Amino acid sequence: MDLFEYQARDMFEKHGVPVLGGIVATTPEEARAAAERLGGGTVVVKAQVKTGGRGKAGGVKLAHSPQEAADRAGEILGMDIKGHTVHRVMVAAGARIAEEYYFSVLLDRAERRYLAMCSVEGGMEIEQLAVERPEALAKVPVDPQVGIDRAKAEEIVAAAGFAADVAPQVADVIERLWTVYREEDATLVEVNPLVRTEDGRIVALDGKVTLDANADFRHADHAELEDAAATDPLEAKAKEHDLNYVKLDGSVGIIGNGAGLVMSTLDVVAYAGERHGGVRPANFLDIGGGASAEVMAAGLDVILGDPQVDAVFVNVFGGITACDAVANGIVAALGMLGDAATKPLVVRLDGNNVEEGRRILREAAHPLVTLADTMDGGADKAAELAHAAHAARTPQA
Ligand SMILES: Nc1ncnc2c1ncn2[C@@H]1O[C@H](COP(=O)(O)OP(=O)(O)OP(=O)(O)O)[C@@H](O)[C@H]1O
Ligand SMILES: [Mg+2]
Repeated sequence: MDLFEYQARDMFEKHGVPVLGGIVATTPEEARAAAERLGGGTVVVKAQVKTGGRGKAGGVKLAHSPQEAADRAGEILGMDIKGHTVHRVMVAAGARIAEEYYFSVLLDRAERRYLAMCSVEGGMEIEQLAVERPEALAKVPVDPQVGIDRAKAEEIVAAAGFAADVAPQVADVIERLWTVYREEDATLVEVNPLVRTEDGRIVALDGKVTLDANADFRHADHAELEDAAATDPLEAKAKEHDLNYVKLDGSVGIIGNGAGLVMSTLDVVAYAGERHGGVRPANFLDIGGGASAEVMAAGLDVILGDPQVDAVFVNVFGGITACDAVANGIVAALGMLGDAATKPLVVRLDGNNVEEGRRILREAAHPLVTLADTMDGGADKAAELAHAAHAARTPQA
């Protein structure tokens, strides 16, 4: 998950990284009030969008009074920056900048370690600097077992060529930024620019943080950083149930167990769809190894809540959780959902205890459920039903 700059700023502050005051505003009026709270002097109004190059796009503007802050916010709010609409700005205390530096630390998957990058030539053109004068951007590998201790921070600062009078202070800030990276389980912490102010302080003026979602369970407080407005409501609901769900744009809902099986199910459904009016998969949903009644119900609930879904294909290979348990799960799930279950379900079971699983479904004889013997057969049936449902809704010309 990528954070907004204001969220990164707050996180930096929590870990003792020097930052300036910053207050979020969603209207010009709020921006005026924020500028007043920051002392009424010079502020910078900054678009809060999860993309780079805000400054160049006109999304970062100076304001010398609260009235000007309101005016600038009025201009920036609603702006489109690289396809991102600006819904909020951060009103930040204005810094008197003497120098702009660059620092980042990120996960280097290929090398199985972290990588710190640092330059005394920070600011808005770091990507260009990296290409045109790579020697000006120091790259220092970081051993994950050790992290950035004092010695490593000093190595980074030396590699970047900081002047002796600022080097210790910059090393200090780098150590604190490492604390953010480690303690928040980030995969990226980037500060561009890290500045030296005219009065000699080192301050993070911008912040980009990406958090590792695999570590969410360790950070109850990270949930509130999520941009609820930007997440698909079905994906949000799936996440509540810890389901591995990705919304797609077709009309055949898919439930399977195991990412590989679900991926190939998407393929066979797309392929079968070519024979049935071009219907396509509506989602990816892996309910994992468990496939209990609760998980099945949660999965069906999410999929049936997608208005684009016309039919559902449940494709499960019984392993540790045998087919009879899965079948009982489906029957129980349909019972739990009651009238909420309205769309036809094609079920293909195979693997451990398949005969018993099929018997349970046959005997339950749920009017919405069709049993399929093979994956291809199931995909074909589901595509056919989805196409028929669509055709029934569409008036004939
Ligand atoms: N609080 C501030 N006070 C004074 N100047 C600032 C402040 N914040 C930013 N600036 C100036 O504006 C420039 C751009 O700001 P910032 O780095 O936050 O946006 P950006 O680099 O355009 O965005 P991104 O990093 O997303 O590409 C900075 O390099 C700095 O010169
Ligand atoms: Mg920046």
